[in-house]
Amino acid sequence: MGCDWANEMIGMAPAAAQAASPKIAVQHLEFAYPGARGGTIMALAGLNLAVPDGQFCCIVGPSGCGKSTLLRLLAGLEQPTRGNIAVRHDNPALPVNSMVFQGDSTFPWLTVRENVAYGLAQRHVPAALRVARVATFLDMVGLRSFSDAYPGQLSGGMRQRVSLARALANDPEILLMDEPFASLDEQNRLLLQLELLRIWETERKTVVFVTHSIDEALLLGDRVLLMSARPGRLLLDELVAFPRPRDPYTLKREAAFGDMAYRIWELLRREVNRARDIEMQGVA
Ligand SMILES: Nc1ncnc2c1ncn2[C@@H]1O[C@H](COP(=O)(O)OP(=O)(O)OP(=O)(O)O)[C@@H](O)[C@H]1O
Ligand SMILES: [Mg+2]
Repeated sequence: MGCDWANEMIGMAPAAAQAASPKIAVQHLEFAYPGARGGTIMALAGLNLAVPDGQFCCIVGPSGCGKSTLLRLLAGLEQPTRGNIAVRHDNPALPVNSMVFQGDSTFPWLTVRENVAYGLAQRHVPAALRVARVATFLDMVGLRSFSDAYPGQLSGGMRQRVSLARALANDPEILLMDEPFASLDEQNRLLLQLELLRIWETERKTVVFVTHSIDEALLLGDRVLLMSARPGRLLLDELVAFPRPRDPYTLKREAAFGDMAYRIWELLRREVNRARDIEMQGVA
């Protein structure tokens, strides 16, 4: 489904742009939560964004700036207070998106295998294919031998890996990932970053990936977005042009990587301080 205003956002004439219309288009997005004292908390304001199909788009920003809110809106779990979100769904046989939530989102009453199979079972994928996909992604996250365990028997990092396997096994057109590696130890984080890169480089799914780590954003992304302190809007939007395939250790030693990371950190640091001041002002 194309959409004229979405095409205009990426500078396309409506007629010519059907094939090239963005996968995700957000225009003048505003989102307010009800505050505890009867006021409102403006989480997002005036946010515009167009993500082309197949782009790996990373979002960084201070705590509380609205990153998770934005992902929930993109997933259709919340509705905008104002503005528009258009998400193009190309293949009705595949789910439009899967989300890896911040923190633990495994189903405690299902085994690891059943957790990973969940989306596939929901859309009645044939059993043989389901079993094969679940095995592939459990291998990928190193949890095949825990297939019959329940989430309560796993560590936090292992549960996070189950959530990741569940989202990837579901084979969505868009992966929405909210700090998916934040609770992992350094070694597992590196392994899963590389694995995600490998999968993305073969499948080229559209990814919106929220992270607190500028290094992670520059290692994984085609593009990095920096959000302001609440109400969140985009302060910086840059392409990350480092060649692929990327190797974390080689890349981090390059001056261009360090320069870009430092430049973004300078902006982020200012927003982190502003975010603290905003939170100090108390409850709306
Ligand atoms: N259910 C809610 N009710 C009221 N306010 C909320 C709710 N969820 C989030 N907020 C507020 O909205 C703002 C944005 O929250 P959000 O979770 O999107 O931030 P975030 O950027 O993901 O932060 P973090 O980096 O800490 O995960 C915060 O200031 C938060 O206090
Ligand atoms: Mg969050």
